Amino acid sequence: MNSKKTVLITGGAGFIGSHVIRRFIKNYPDYLIVNADKLTYAGNLENLSDIDKNKNYRFERVDIVDKIAVSGLFQKYSFDGIVHLAAESHVDRSITGPDEFVFTNIIGTVNLLNAALNSWQKIFEGKLFYHISTDEVFGSLGREGMFTEKTAYDPKSPYSASKASSDHLVRAYNHTFGIPAVISNCSNNYGPNQFPEKLIPLAINNIRNNKPVPVYGKGENIRDWLYVEDHAAAIDLIFHRGKQGETYNIGGNNEWKNIDLIKLLCKIMDRKLGRNPGDSEKLITYVKDRPGHDLRYAIDSSKLQKEMGWKPIPDFEEGLEKTVEWYLANEKWLENVISGDYEKYYDSMYSGR
Ligand code: NAD
Ligand code: TYD
Repeated sequence: MNSKKTVLITGGAGFIGSHVIRRFIKNYPDYLIVNADKLTYAGNLENLSDIDKNKNYRFERVDIVDKIAVSGLFQKYSFDGIVHLAAESHVDRSITGPDEFVFTNIIGTVNLLNAALNSWQKIFEGKLFYHISTDEVFGSLGREGMFTEKTAYDPKSPYSASKASSDHLVRAYNHTFGIPAVISNCSNNYGPNQFPEKLIPLAINNIRNNKPVPVYGKGENIRDWLYVEDHAAAIDLIFHRGKQGETYNIGGNNEWKNIDLIKLLCKIMDRKLGRNPGDSEKLITYVKDRPGHDLRYAIDSSKLQKEMGWKPIPDFEEGLEKTVEWYLANEKWLENVISGDYEKYYDSMYSGR
């Protein structure tokens, strides 16, 4: 692949996408980076305000469900690579309203695959369709074991089912039409710029405002947490060195029971806010469990580590502390993202739970 490329990044105004865009803009000044995003409630151009004046960056407001808009995008630019992150990403929303997940995650992905096929006209040299997926496609683990690249798909929520479906479509287009594609499946991300509907920023926001911190069920569910910049670094490596047709698992090797994670977060928040030790923990409130709540996710990322020398940051507490510091230093960002429909969403999700 040569050093001048035009790369489409979908969903670049979202949490992970904004970190990927920033990394690509800085690391590859010869690339033209095109961010295509619909700007749903989760998309926020403020996430990119430090780089949006760069010469090698363009923003296009595109809904990937809109086939005509997608084909217009591919007529305007001649893409060498696509990093596809745009998605509806929150499990709780997929339970109350699955349709958007089917539209964006499945139809949106097919629209991009078709547009890429059409634009590349079977000349695939130097081209790549990189699909970003989740470990949730593998379903739920018991107390033992880890997901590997060979684990059979067994999605349990409308979100994970829609992502599994899009993964299958990407593989089918690779197999049937020869479109060069790679997929990565990553564990739960945390870090700056995450919308406060997900556990960690929601808890930080509530602790900051002395509001109850909702823990689903008994707080026994386990997630494998990865710092978002480690995910962006893995995406960079896989985009440049991944073998087409392959899948790579990405994970933090960092399993935490929700309740233990929330207690650690409370401890950090007490310190940062100058509260007495134990004050924030008093906000923990057990609420009704999520329907079909997956018990445990854990990723075996040894393939990526061996093949590309990738490693996540070793210290979770340090990553969490950096994250807390970012949210406390960016209260304006937080106020802006929660000023719209967030209040309504929060009430509908948590009142009566
Ligand atoms: P996010 O919800 O923060 O951002 C999603 C972005 O996609 C937003 O900017 C939104 O405006 C955009 N978008 C949504 N629908 C669109 C549409 N129809 N057309 C164009 N743009 C649209 O999500 P995230 O957490 O940054 O996740 C990004 C990707 O990574 C997703 O594909 C997700 O499945 C995957 N992933 C996320 C995690 C995680 O922990 N957050 C873990 C593994 C994989
Ligand atoms: P979440 O951040 O929604 O990610 P995912 O469901 O994709 O793993 O949730 C992480 C874990 O935290 C999950 O087990 C559900 C739980 N959770 C709570 O206990 N309370 C909350 O308010 C939220 C949003 C999540």
